[in-house]
Formats: sequence, structure tokens, C-alpha cells
Amino acid sequence: MKKYIVIGNPIEHSLSPKLHNYLFKKNNIDANYGKRKINKNEIQEIITEIKGNKLDGINVTVPFKTDVIPFLDMLSEESQITQSVNTIYIHDKKLVGHNTDIKGFELSLKDTEFDLNNKSIFILGAGGVVPSIIYALKKLGVSKITVSNRTSQKAENLKENFPNIDLVDWGDQPEFDIIINATSLGLNKEDKIGLIFKNINKEKLFYDVIYNPKETNFLRTGKSLGCQVSNGKMMFIYQAFEAFKLWHKVKPKIDDELKNFLDL
Ligand code: ATR
Repeated sequence: MKKYIVIGNPIEHSLSPKLHNYLFKKNNIDANYGKRKINKNEIQEIITEIKGNKLDGINVTVPFKTDVIPFLDMLSEESQITQSVNTIYIHDKKLVGHNTDIKGFELSLKDTEFDLNNKSIFILGAGGVVPSIIYALKKLGVSKITVSNRTSQKAENLKENFPNIDLVDWGDQPEFDIIINATSLGLNKEDKIGLIFKNINKEKLFYDVIYNPKETNFLRTGKSLGCQVSNGKMMFIYQAFEAFKLWHKVKPKIDDELKNFLDL
């Protein structure tokens, strides 16, 4: 039986085991997927396990997506540019790090059917997931990306990697067609982002990377303005699907049964 795990801290709430184990059953794959809460100094131990064939693949979640990089033999171009690895696999006896968050975000945005042509994007936050979002948006050919982060230094660091992005102070609000919450504000139901949306027409998309709770205050605001809204559920599902495809060479099917099963 093949063995897969997701590592992170915290890890209790990760839905990856539930999703991957469901997909194993559906696709008749003899494998098991678990989760492990680790500290940074335990990464080496996990790497030894995969190198010793005790593990067949690893998903990496917050806060280790960058920390695992020095332990790997190779990075995909996506991981290289974003300095973020969420999927580890073995290829030709080499340990490879890849980033499926990019494709996850890209596919989820396509699912919204929001027209991306010539659009301005406003991203709130500059944490771990933001380089993946910017990479995907650039690939999709949006015209302008503006980032705002409470800690301005972190936004400036991001600009070193992506010089074409614009930065605005936290609390400021540029013109936008799509606004993306990539902060952790909203994980607690009562969290408020604190932006006052003035003169907002209905033609916008409010996208929240958070999928639990299903509807953050941020999305509720978007809805009350009559705008289209999307949470991070499909991004989560698609990033898992991409890892699954890499590991098992099988393309999983998305259907209502899966969505109901995950209860997202
Ligand atoms: P990390 O910052 O370690 O990469 P993350 O979960 O990927 O962690 O990112 C959290 C994001 O939410 C950051 O952009 C963070 O802003 P700071 O860089 O200023 O910390 C943002 N965030 C978290 N709590 C916030 C709050 N109360 N107000 C505004 N932004 C907040």
C-alpha cells in the first residue's frame, strides 16, 4: 500500500486526507493518506522517510511551503518562481517539489466564468499563498495587479520577485475588477477586513481564498453590494486534484457527490 501525508502546523483542520482517501476509493488505488503536525526541525526526518520509500508523496501546507525547499533535489519552474512547494514526489530517484496551488487558483478562477480580459486585480495580503496567485494571474493575462498588506515590508519583498505589481498602503483602495482576500482574516467568523467599499458597482468579483467558513464577512460584503462572489473551495479541490494526477497518473472526476462529501 502506498503512503501519502500532508505536513503542516496546525494540521487538525486539513481536509486533504478526507479528499485523497475518497479519491483512492473511487479510483481503486491501494493507498492511504494521513496528516502529520510537525515542527520545522522535523522536516529532515520526513525527507528521510520519503527517500527511504516509507512515504510515496507529501503535501506541504502552512507554514512550511518555503521551508521544505532546501531539502529537495529539484523544483518545478512554478515552485522556483513562487518559492513555494505544496507537493513533493519522486522522479528518477530525485525528490521534486512542485506547486499545485497555482493551477488550483487558476482553475477555480476560470470556474467563476468572470471575464478576465483587461481586468485589474486587488489582492489583500502578502503571505505564503500570494506568489502563487500572482503567478496564476500573470499567466491568465490580467492587466494590472495591486497588493496591499498590513506589514508593508512583506509587500515590498513580494515586489522584488514580481516587479510589475503595484503596492498600496493597508486600508487604501485602488480601482479594481476583482478583489481577492488572501489574508487569514475571515478564518474566525467575526473577523472583518475593515475596508469601506464606496462607489462599488455590481460588475466585480469578490474572491476569498478561505473556504471554511464558507462565507466570510468579506464575501458577505461583496454579496450585499450585488457582486459575484467565490470562496476558496474549488481552489482547494483543484490543487488536490493536481497533486493526485502527479502521483497516480489518474485524472479524478469532480461531481456533486464529492462536493457533498467534503461538505464545503
Ligand atoms: P505568513 O504571513 O506567515 O505567510 P499567511 O497565513 O500566509 O502567513 O499570511 C497571513 C496574511 O494575513 C498576511 O498577509 C497577514 O498580514 P501581515 O503580513 O501584516 O501579518 C495577514 N493578516 C493576518 N492577520 C491580519 C490582520 N489582523 N489584519 C490585517 N492582515 C492580517
